[in-house]
Amino acid sequence: MSIDRLIDSAVLEGSAPETEPKRPPRRGLWPYLRGVSRQLRRFVSRRTPKGLYARSLIIIIAPMVLLQSVVAFVFMERHWQTVTQRLSAAVVQDIAAVIDMIETYPDPSGQYAEVSRIARERLALNVLVLPPEPLPAPAPKPFFNILDGILSEEITRQINRPFWIDTLGESRIVEIRIQLADHILRIFAPRNSAYASNSHIFLVWMVGTSLVLILIAILFLRNQIRPIQKLAQAAEGFGRGQPMPADFRVRGASEVRRASLAFIQMRDRIERQIEQRTQMLNGVSHDLRTVLTRFRLQLALLDDNEDRRELEHDVDEMGRMLEGYLAFAKGEGGEEVGELDLERVFARFESEAALKNRLIETDVVGDPRVSVRPDAFVRCLGNLVANALRHGNAVRLTARHDDRWLSVSVEDDGPGIEAIQREEVFKPFVRLDEARNIDAGGTGLGLAIARDVARSHGGDILLSDSPLGGLKALVRIPA
Ligand SMILES: Nc1ncnc2c1ncn2[C@@H]1O[C@H](COP(=O)(O)OP(=O)(O)OP(=O)(O)O)[C@@H](O)[C@H]1O
Ligand SMILES: [Mg+2]
Repeated sequence: MSIDRLIDSAVLEGSAPETEPKRPPRRGLWPYLRGVSRQLRRFVSRRTPKGLYARSLIIIIAPMVLLQSVVAFVFMERHWQTVTQRLSAAVVQDIAAVIDMIETYPDPSGQYAEVSRIARERLALNVLVLPPEPLPAPAPKPFFNILDGILSEEITRQINRPFWIDTLGESRIVEIRIQLADHILRIFAPRNSAYASNSHIFLVWMVGTSLVLILIAILFLRNQIRPIQKLAQAAEGFGRGQPMPADFRVRGASEVRRASLAFIQMRDRIERQIEQRTQMLNGVSHDLRTVLTRFRLQLALLDDNEDRRELEHDVDEMGRMLEGYLAFAKGEGGEEVGELDLERVFARFESEAALKNRLIETDVVGDPRVSVRPDAFVRCLGNLVANALRHGNAVRLTARHDDRWLSVSVEDDGPGIEAIQREEVFKPFVRLDEARNIDAGGTGLGLAIARDVARSHGGDILLSDSPLGGLKALVRIPA
């Protein structure tokens, strides 16, 4: 094939000529089984309970139920059937003996009263000898009745004459009719002489004891799992800045004790570190503040000119930054939870903005009174509002308070933040303004502090696009 034709054909087929034969996709039992097992695992994990308590109970109960089902099945199959077979064989033997007596000693009266008496008194069989008549049509065979089958089998084996049986009709009596040469023999035998009827006692005992075992397992398991739940609660609370629950104690199995001890030590270490950090920053900023105050005093003594104003501006900015560092280092964990009126807070933001000739649109849906750490929460919202005012013209503040959540959104019509940077900006000291060439004089701590506060209330801050065109910051905490 010439090069040109090769290229033509490739173009026509829409693909490059293949240099290597394509490997067929792997098919076979193994990948198929793996797929099935993955799906099964996903199905099971979606359906099974998630809690440790429920899972441990299943781990105990499931094998027990399985074991009992197998034991019950095997027992029923073997024991029940064997015993019923023996009993049926004995009853049929007795009937065969009665038939032998009737045939060996014919009774001219046709009553066979003696045979009936012997059968009734010695064999517990009620025997009637009737004149010949055709046997009734066979009764419908019940689906699950081993007696019917076994009894029929035995009659065929030992007597081998036409017969009719009714194991259903009356519950405690089995009726058998057998066609003899010139009679019909009608026999009523007690059902339990042909049938192992008390096997259910075994089942009752088995289920009863396993219920007791399950009850004991539940009680023991609850005691084992409670320390784990308490530890999880304490760790969660610590994450939200709450104090340790009063009833938290190191207890339970040795692994749980070790985890609890490790948690307490970790918490102490973290608290110590935070304290050290705060002390250091306090010291540093106190020293710097003193120097800044000296600067201010010296500046005040200088002539009022452009240079002095610029220097004052720088000193002010340094002061503001110092306050920011301090606030960040201190955290707001120590503050007590109290009631805060969102309408009043919003009104304060509005009036502060009005001083700078700016307008904020506000709206509160639901109860304006919320229970939060007031200073911390106001600082959180204040940081978001400051950002919005700095970056946008129009600013909208909306609060929504229902019985589950408190959501406050701060929206603006500024440039917004790109989706990939929305995590980054929460890190301390991260600022996008430098890259955007805006000299806004921030420290990059505003969002970090705001998120800290939201998380310490058990919530979070989400950034998204606002219908106004800029950024929407949503603070959501459990009400
Ligand atoms: N509403 C907003 N619109 C556009 N960009 C924003 C908005 N809010 C924050 N940003 C960007 O996220 C960065 C981090 O914000 P953050 O509030 O943490 O720091 P800052 O505002 O620069 O300084 P600070 O708040 O400490 O004075 C900002 O530098 C800014 O670029
Ligand atoms: Mg800010």
